[in-house]
Amino acid sequence: MATDPRSAPPDLGISRRSLLKGTAASGASAFGAFQAGAQEAEAVPAGGPEVEVEITINGRPERFTLDARTTLLDLLRERLDLTGTKVGCNHGQCGACTVLVDGTRINSCLRLAATLDGAEVTTIEGLAEAGEMHPMQQAFIDNDGFQCGYCTPGQIMSAVGCVTEGHAGSEAEIREYMSGNLCRCGAYKGIVAAVVQARDETEARGAS
Ligand code: FES
Ligand code: FES
Repeated sequence: MATDPRSAPPDLGISRRSLLKGTAASGASAFGAFQAGAQEAEAVPAGGPEVEVEITINGRPERFTLDARTTLLDLLRERLDLTGTKVGCNHGQCGACTVLVDGTRINSCLRLAATLDGAEVTTIEGLAEAGEMHPMQQAFIDNDGFQCGYCTPGQIMSAVGCVTEGHAGSEAEIREYMSGNLCRCGAYKGIVAAVVQARDETEARGAS
């Protein structure tokens, strides 16, 4: 049974399916959808109800007036130009769009921005501090945790969440709790090694 916390659907009180039209890709396997490469985000028809939200994104609080049907992924990419967060399947199946919300990893393609009033969102662009790469970013470089790099921002954000959750105790556990992030290049060996390195470094820093 998959134990990646993102496999549990968020409690939005409303289903995204009822808001957005299906695409030709629906019903395709997750891997097939991801292999097809980035799909254009579904256009949200104009004229929907608008909401106001304040969301802190990468440490900067911002107020938005937006269509209530806007996903966090679309807000990040289309409105804020934070294109490090990738579109893969756009259906919650590949993990390419993973970001942290209040420190917990989520698939941003499944989360309506309107539900995030007061939340803190961290994207791959906000991970480095004072010009220094996050240990997880450095670990991916050190361990060849990527090839084409398309899945890498989502992998790194998910890996940070995996370590923070305390689910990086062994390689088997890392594989299990990173199972929501697909890599069509098959860089899994390097990804697991990177998570181990960053976990060890994080633990060593905590102990010192
Ligand atoms: Fe695939 Fe969000 S784009 S899970
Ligand atoms: Fe190419 Fe993962 S999809 S590195």
